Formats: sequence, structure tokens, C-alpha cells
Amino acid sequence: MAHVDLRPFDDDDADAVFEMMSDPDAAAQAAFTADDPGDRDAFDVWLERHRADDRVRMFVVTEDGGFAGTAAAFTVDDDREVTFWIARHARGRGVASAALRLLIAREAERPLYARVAADNAASLAVLQANGFSEIERARSFAPARGTEIDEVILVLPPTLDGI
Ligand SMILES: CC(C)(COP(=O)(O)OP(=O)(O)OC[C@H]1O[C@@H](n2cnc3c(N)ncnc32)[C@H](O)[C@@H]1OP(=O)(O)O)[C@@H](O)C(=O)NCCC(=O)NCCS
Repeated sequence: MAHVDLRPFDDDDADAVFEMMSDPDAAAQAAFTADDPGDRDAFDVWLERHRADDRVRMFVVTEDGGFAGTAAAFTVDDDREVTFWIARHARGRGVASAALRLLIAREAERPLYARVAADNAASLAVLQANGFSEIERARSFAPARGTEIDEVILVLPPTLDGI
């Protein structure tokens, strides 16, 4: 497998991230997206807000040094959550699983949570391969689908030795 790594987000990454996140098929898969994933102005506002927030750690995922996606940790209501998104050209060969492994190694806080559309089988597989397991289901509005759908909440618990 190619070498997967995480690096800090850079100004020059914005175009690639927008292109990736505005892909209609990818947005439909992720489901819980911006109201209009194709709105560049709204994306730029969202990006600036997250980059200015010290509770958000956003990384670019690289595969052999090239842009392959994003992985991030952020805080919602005191819960630490993770998320990831892999560009179409880099999918299907373990990049997301490797990126999540690196992200959770860099995030000291436990438990870590993730929220995924119940039908996003690839994302569920990536999380479960990294030790997350389902704790709850909810009905939530999914902007990219324009309707409420089932959402799975997963947790990566503390290990027995507390790490
Ligand atoms: C979900 C996503 C991150 C997966 O990225 P990826 O690099 O292709 O993932 P990996 O190759 O590491 O692993 C994918 C796993 O899903 C499995 N998978 C893929 N499609 C599947 C499907 N339709 N049904 C069941 N399993 C599936 C693969 O077999 C693999 O599991 P394995 O490692 O046990 O074989 C990518 O499709 C993506 O970014 N999609 C758009 C945004 C998104 O949905 N992000 C997640 C939001 S929580």
C-alpha cells in the first residue's frame, strides 16, 4: 500500500477540499453536509470558521505525498468527534482506514465519537476497523438528501489501561 500520512491544512488546499466536498455523489454518501455543498462562498466561510476554532484540528490526508482527503477532530457539546473524507481518486485501497488510525493516535482524548449515515457502509467499515462501535441511532436531518435519515453514533472507548 502507498504511504498515507496527515499534515496540517494549508491555504493552498482549499480548492482541492472544495472540489472533493462538492462532489454530489460524495455529498449524498456523507449526507450530513453543508446545506448546499456546491456553494463556494459558504464553503469559504465554513473553512475560515473552523480554522479559527482551536477545538478543531483539521488535517490533509496524503497518499505518497499527494492530496487524498481530509481528516478532522472537533468538539460538539463537550464530546470529541472525528470525521474523514477521501477524494474519489484515492478511495477503495485503505486510505481512510489508515488516515483514521493516524488521527486517533494524535487525539489523546477518549472517548472519541463519530456520526455516520446508517447506509454509509464504507464509512462504518472504516470506523469499525479502527475500534469504534455503535452506541446509538437517531433520526437526523441530512442536508445533502433533503430529508431525515437514520444516523449511527459510534464510540471509541478508553482502553483498559486508560489510554
Ligand atoms: C467513506 C470513505 C471515507 C471511505 O474511504 P476509503 O479510503 O475508500 O476507505 P477504505 O478503503 O479505508 O475502507 C473502506 C471499507 O469500506 C468497505 N466498503 C466500501 N464500500 C462498501 C459498501 N458499499 N458496503 C460495505 N462495505 C464497503 C471496504 O471493503 C473497506 O472495508 P475493509 O477495509 O474491511 O475491506 C469515502 O468513501 C468517502 O470519503 N466518501 C465520501 C465522504 C464520506 O462519506 N465521509 C464519511 C463521513 S462520516
